[in-house]
Amino acid sequence: MAGALQIKLKSSEKLLVAPSLLSADILNIESSISKLENTADWLHLDIMDGHFVPNLSYGPFLLKALRKKYPNAFIDVHIMVEPAENFVPMFLAGKPSLLTVHAEATPHLHRVLQSIKAEGVLAGIAINPATPAELISPVLNLADVVLVMSVNPGFGGQKFIPEVLGKVHKLAELRKERNYDYLIEMDGGLGPENAALAAAHGCDIAVAGNAVFSSPNPAETVRKMKTAGGENNG
Ligand code: DX5
Ligand code: ZN
Repeated sequence: MAGALQIKLKSSEKLLVAPSLLSADILNIESSISKLENTADWLHLDIMDGHFVPNLSYGPFLLKALRKKYPNAFIDVHIMVEPAENFVPMFLAGKPSLLTVHAEATPHLHRVLQSIKAEGVLAGIAINPATPAELISPVLNLADVVLVMSVNPGFGGQKFIPEVLGKVHKLAELRKERNYDYLIEMDGGLGPENAALAAAHGCDIAVAGNAVFSSPNPAETVRKMKTAGGENNG
């Protein structure tokens, strides 16, 4: 399994797409996933606590059920919960491939990232639209993924905030300067129309909820996003 994850992470020449299950059919998530027809690189699971963000979503039971049903899937878990460290163990128990915590949701980001990596799980750092990339500069060496929010977290179907593209570019530059290998993920308001723009600024993985699952053909929408990203990313 570790080998397979490594391959996914290294195939960053093209834009990877991570459909967000927040926009899946809640009463039939399995059917929503099957409509992706194996086009999705990652499955993105949004966890909301009604405190760090003004909404509630799923808990660790759904992650456990997904892992049981899809043992080989790359499950990308994005926890919007505070304090992050209180929730990390219960999500690690559900065997995510990647666990991403918000920099704004813990005073102990370094320790939290270490605790995720200690379990052999990839560790991600998420930053809100108003958070500068410089804030996480001292811990970038511990990041497998940096998730740049392109909407204010809490809800699907919001409008893309283009001002965050500068941070994506900055993070790509920092990665090169320091010879790091984290991937850059963007989340919120993405779809076929702006996937190329995201990729051109250095985005490696595009999360998309509404654009994918509200489309009459989710698999085709994922393919369109990947093609758009690939053309611009060379
Ligand atoms: C927002 C979530 C996103 C959301 C994206 O708080 O983190 O993952 O599902 O949804 P869209 O693509 O609909 O903006
Ligand atoms: Zn998310």
